[in-house]
Amino acid sequence: MSLRIEAVSKKYKRANKEFEILRNIDLTVNDGEFVCILGPSGCGKSTLLNIIAGFEKVTEGKVLLDGKEVNSPGPDRAVVFQEHALFPWLKVIDNVEFGMKVAGIPKSERRERALKYLEMMHLTKFKDSFVHELSGGMKQRVSIARALCLDSNILLMDEPFSSLDSQTRELLQLEVQRIWWNTKKTVVFITHSIEEAVLLADRIILMPASLDSEKKEFRIQLSRPRQIANMDVTYMVSKIMKEFKKEVEKVAKSEYDEGWNLEKDSILYDDSSSVGIGL
Ligand SMILES: Nc1ncnc2c1ncn2[C@@H]1O[C@H](COP(=O)(O)OP(=O)(O)OP(=O)(O)O)[C@@H](O)[C@H]1O
Ligand SMILES: [Mg+2]
Repeated sequence: MSLRIEAVSKKYKRANKEFEILRNIDLTVNDGEFVCILGPSGCGKSTLLNIIAGFEKVTEGKVLLDGKEVNSPGPDRAVVFQEHALFPWLKVIDNVEFGMKVAGIPKSERRERALKYLEMMHLTKFKDSFVHELSGGMKQRVSIARALCLDSNILLMDEPFSSLDSQTRELLQLEVQRIWWNTKKTVVFITHSIEEAVLLADRIILMPASLDSEKKEFRIQLSRPRQIANMDVTYMVSKIMKEFKKEVEKVAKSEYDEGWNLEKDSILYDDSSSVGIGL
């Protein structure tokens, strides 16, 4: 299923003031394409994803799925949120089954699919636990299982791995690559990590820090599965990092002191590729 974002703008009203978050965004994601969206904190990535999901309304513009305009959530789009959005009063397995229940999938099939994806997320042992009994990473894995088992054409993921430890994160990055390879779902994946974007994406969109600037695009034509240690991956990461750094610096200069400098104030600067993670 293809996705088209046409001249989308978004403004919020807060305390009688208007805040412009997105201006005139155009983006086409082709059927089966894996697109990662990178950008400094606060530039509107989650807002854009929520608009695609149908949870937020555009101020101007359109979102089209296979050419048809959509304004509300639908079973064609599954979402993994930046912070898990599980029901605390339901057991893990019931949380995973919830979306399928809403979608009208029969009980026996629901259970079968839920167990399959819980196993994939290494959560079988916790299927009867309650949400408060899980760690943050486990909650996020339940959210991923819940989204995957809907088998939607489009998968929208908002920094799904950012709260996970690096081992789990690497496992899930491989898992997502495998799932995408086998199902050829259309994926829009938001991340702060350039490495993660290069590992996963066909195309990376770097959102600008300022509304007046244009977004940048990088096509990643490396063979899969990709490994962090590959020279080609490292090269792409450093190329994109240069651009990302410029955007992070723009945000930092507007939010911190005049004299703030990315290289000098090194708490936020990591010479590996995770620059900007703290922002
Ligand atoms: N419901 C809302 N009402 C008012 N302002 C909002 C609302 N949601 C988001 N914003 C504002 O919109 C801007 C973009 O927020 P958004 O969550 O889309 O950023 P982001 O790029 O996802 O950031 P991060 O990388 O930190 O997740 C922020 O300045 C935020 O304060
Ligand atoms: Mg966000």
